[in-house]
Amino acid sequence: MGPIEIKPDIYWVGVVDWNLRNFHGYSRTKQGTTYNAYLMIDDSITLFDTVDWKYREEFMCQIAQIVDPEKIDTLVVNHVEPDHAGSLPYIVDRIKPKRILCSKMGQKFIQGRFHATDWPVEPVSNEQTVRLGRRSVQFLETRMLHWPDSMVSFIPEERLLISQDAFGQNIASSERYDDWIDWSELKSEMAHYYANIILPFSAKVPKAVQKIQELGWDIDMIAPDHGLILKEHVADAIQAYLEFAEQKPTPKAVIFYDTMWRTTEKMAEALASGLSKNDISVKLYHLKSWHHSDVMNQVWNCAAVLGGSPTHNNNVLPLVADMLTYMQGLRPKHKIGFGFGSYGWSGESPKIIHSWLGKMGMELPVEPFAQLHAPTHEEYQKLHQVADKLAETIHALVAKHGG
Ligand code: FEO
Repeated sequence: MGPIEIKPDIYWVGVVDWNLRNFHGYSRTKQGTTYNAYLMIDDSITLFDTVDWKYREEFMCQIAQIVDPEKIDTLVVNHVEPDHAGSLPYIVDRIKPKRILCSKMGQKFIQGRFHATDWPVEPVSNEQTVRLGRRSVQFLETRMLHWPDSMVSFIPEERLLISQDAFGQNIASSERYDDWIDWSELKSEMAHYYANIILPFSAKVPKAVQKIQELGWDIDMIAPDHGLILKEHVADAIQAYLEFAEQKPTPKAVIFYDTMWRTTEKMAEALASGLSKNDISVKLYHLKSWHHSDVMNQVWNCAAVLGGSPTHNNNVLPLVADMLTYMQGLRPKHKIGFGFGSYGWSGESPKIIHSWLGKMGMELPVEPFAQLHAPTHEEYQKLHQVADKLAETIHALVAKHGG
């Protein structure tokens, strides 16, 4: 896709990675992604962010369609993660910028990643404004959104916020704006991104939004570093981020499991049936069919997480440990946890899962359920009774914390 002028003399010069599935090394994308970068032609010709290393040559071609790359004198690095900054060594060598603007933490990260001693890095202060000609840019540090180095760039004369990872979505498309896609689909992709990238730092989101309001930034376009540029849904996107950050539980349960000979799977299905009967929406994930990032896409606003595994060598199956490890790092809030699974002789797995969910801060109102060998009809009924109890606590949790 060629460059697109998104504001007068400001161009999208990113690249589209149509076939990416492994995003950031741990999250799965269904629709690829984009690495967005923006070029502003003004007295100081400024490039905001770069792209993944593998696209460095295409990126240079994008820039060259607008301006001789060697005329770029200011390079802004909002975020040093390699999907944005991976091309830096190549780009710096080719364009030889007069200055590289980044946060103070960004300076440390640039040194740490690239070991460059002769780059003209000039860290900016939080909220500093730099004039670039008839336009200016104000920087705001957004630490941990997504890394400690992260900052965003606001160009007040154009009401344009360049937001790096924030408000990103993994959508590879020929379209650059958000005006061709249903808001529900866009929000769903934004939620998937948030749930896997931003969720652990949710407490910082309302503070960042408040800071933007205090600074009086009148934004009419958000240009993230991944996915579509927001112009129709600026307010919706900000509201969605506040909603994601709150993690208000809805009457929904996420059940993930792995299974050896389908007994744990049958237990999962019995629990799903029992919960559904009690007006709880259920999402069921066999981890051999689903990626942990897809499960997280439903966890952020669910009220209960049920994890199942047969006992295998006194432990849980590896995919269940993977799911629990991943989920623990993302620190979901306002949940009920529950562990279940089948066993043949020792039966530790339900307690291990239960305890692991409890360590994440989840409430554990119902004892874990271990099933010796295959369940009888009466034991399936017991699982339905467990589901009844869980549903009761789910409705209570939603009444307490839900929206
Ligand atoms: Fe898309 Fe945190 O980098």
